[in-house]
Amino acid sequence: MPKVTVLPANKSAEVPVGETLLDAGEKAGVEMEAGCFNCSCGTCVVEVVSGMENLEPPSDEELDVLDAWNKDPEKYRLTCVVKVKGGDVTIRAGH
Ligand code: FES
Repeated sequence: MPKVTVLPANKSAEVPVGETLLDAGEKAGVEMEAGCFNCSCGTCVVEVVSGMENLEPPSDEELDVLDAWNKDPEKYRLTCVVKVKGGDVTIRAGH
């Protein structure tokens, strides 16, 4: 199963393919920031430290929200919508 690691806590969880990063972080025992849970507020943005290729590509909706927050989609993603495709991912929570 893919492993998701959350920095700076450095906590990890193994999660099924298709899990959102938000749920993965919670499973790792990290209290993840989120507001709308629906790809509109941007509260849940995190930096993807490694494993971007192991995440589903962003939807137009996610790109719009990242743009509104001035976050580069090659480095930042919204945990409430992005799903793990397989392989390991490391994110940095808190902004
Ligand atoms: S919680 Fe609002 S965009 Fe993710």
